[in-house]
Amino acid sequence: MGPGPTMVHERVLKANAKSTIGHLDPAFVGLMDEIKQLLQYTFQTNNNMTMPVSAPGSAGMEACFANLVEPGDKVIVCINGVFGHRMKENVERCGGEAIVIEDDWGCPVSIDKVKQAFNANSGVVTLAFVHAETSTGVLSDAQELSEVAHNNGALVIVDAVTSLAGVPLRVDEWKLDAVYSGSQKCVSCCPGLW
Ligand SMILES: Cc1ncc(COP(=O)(O)O)c(C=O)c1O
Repeated sequence: MGPGPTMVHERVLKANAKSTIGHLDPAFVGLMDEIKQLLQYTFQTNNNMTMPVSAPGSAGMEACFANLVEPGDKVIVCINGVFGHRMKENVERCGGEAIVIEDDWGCPVSIDKVKQAFNANSGVVTLAFVHAETSTGVLSDAQELSEVAHNNGALVIVDAVTSLAGVPLRVDEWKLDAVYSGSQKCVSCCPGLW
């Protein structure tokens, strides 16, 4: 299911065909609260800042970088496939300095290389990596990468577009700071959310 888009369940398609309600309608507010709670369960987090974004996964990515990266910030970006490159572009568009760690396509992000990058660069504020690299299907160790970042005083931004609901993703337990995903992959919903 990783590459997506996956088949959308008939129940979801039928719900899509229902008439709309106003965005200020109390019923809509209740619906949104319920969706946020269900998303918290899906992401295994109690963080109140858990919400759907009416846009594809790339907009979830942009939301994380635009809110966390300031001009001049040093960000270690792990690239082991297509989507790490997109994270690097986001860092640079925000005026940050991307310190790139590359691993061969088909290999997970090397924990040792990330540790070396922290040792070689002072003042890194964020570590960014793709949990499951869609282009190769390779999973990286989000828990350990998060620990390395926090030991060095940095936050983590995690791309969970392909991993969410496909493999364990424990946002609170692994202390992941900012995580985005996409609705069209393992969640089997329609594209265009997150
Ligand atoms: C790992 C990863 N990140 C980001 C994206 C971008 O998501 P979207 O196509 O929903 O913008 C994808 C899409 O395949 C992806 O697999």
